[in-house]
Amino acid sequence: MNIKETLKKLEHTHIAEPQELLQIINDDSCDTQLFEAADRVRKSIYGNKVFIRGLIEISNYCKNNCYYCGIRCGNKNVERYRLTPDDILQCCKAGYALGFRTFVMQGGEDNYYTDNMLCDIIKQIKSDYSDCAVTLSLGERSKESYQRLYNAGADRYLLRHETASDKHYEMLHPTEMSFKNRIRCLMDLKEIGFQTGAGFMVGSPYQTRENLVNDLMFLKKLQPQMIGIGPFIPHRDTCFKNEKAGSLRDTLVMVALTRLLLPNALIPSTTALGTISENGRELGIKAGANVVMPNLSPVDLRKHYTLYNNKICMDTEAAEGLEALKMSMQNIGYEIVTDRGDYRA
Ligand code: 5AD
Repeated sequence: MNIKETLKKLEHTHIAEPQELLQIINDDSCDTQLFEAADRVRKSIYGNKVFIRGLIEISNYCKNNCYYCGIRCGNKNVERYRLTPDDILQCCKAGYALGFRTFVMQGGEDNYYTDNMLCDIIKQIKSDYSDCAVTLSLGERSKESYQRLYNAGADRYLLRHETASDKHYEMLHPTEMSFKNRIRCLMDLKEIGFQTGAGFMVGSPYQTRENLVNDLMFLKKLQPQMIGIGPFIPHRDTCFKNEKAGSLRDTLVMVALTRLLLPNALIPSTTALGTISENGRELGIKAGANVVMPNLSPVDLRKHYTLYNNKICMDTEAAEGLEALKMSMQNIGYEIVTDRGDYRA
């Protein structure tokens, strides 16, 4: 089959062979058709709606030392902070008034927040804002812990798999971390009933195009409800400081292929995509993404949550810039909505 026929088949069946995916990734002559097909598939399920999530970065302490990440525990140049339960509730209050109906609590793996503490915060948010969804993005935990957080009312959990190739996983993480445990966590989250998010970085060190195909096949099999994809961006205090960032084109291609393979997925146009290119987030939406996650963290602390250099955290990336974000989405034909924005099966 030529590439146009492959694309057509993918748009209508949502199935592709690894070889066909590789062909599309390797050939940029059909990028425009690819993005348009992904956009049609998204519109057939979610219309032109773009869902917003209020991102609250609750802590930049982390017990892990992932080689790519700016807040890894080995980085002594980070000014560490933690939000109190009250700080978090203040963020939700401000976010609710702006129209957010999903709050995402994201942080490094920080044992300071016990299950009990997190459960209390979740219950408080759900009782104050019963029409809102709570999403957690707090890394690897035990199944018991995930179950307790779910029972407290958390609706969704984001945990990127980072790369679906175990050899590659080992090149990005210290030996204490394992691909096996990552997958165990994702399986547990799904089994417990969370709307579950996976995802990966594009252009991370040592990544091959075969790895990217593997990521897509892995997602097709896992069937997560949410999928976060962003370019790798080097951070000056990591061993990958001299590595190249992932490209805009490759990231958009991966977003579009993900949309075609998993038509119902909730896919954010990520902050990292907005960081490598001025209109990256708009291009992500046009290539099939349907979520944006503006920053609701306390403004003075945002600069300390630096996973990679030059992370945007002001202007339309910030919750305060929501009006500007609405305009920029309107300009390209999409509409930001005040809605929990749940997965549509
Ligand atoms: N570049 C891009 N993304 C990164 N992340 C962590 N470090 C970087 C980096 N240097 C991503 C990881 C993680 C998510 C919260 O941020 O994929 O899961």
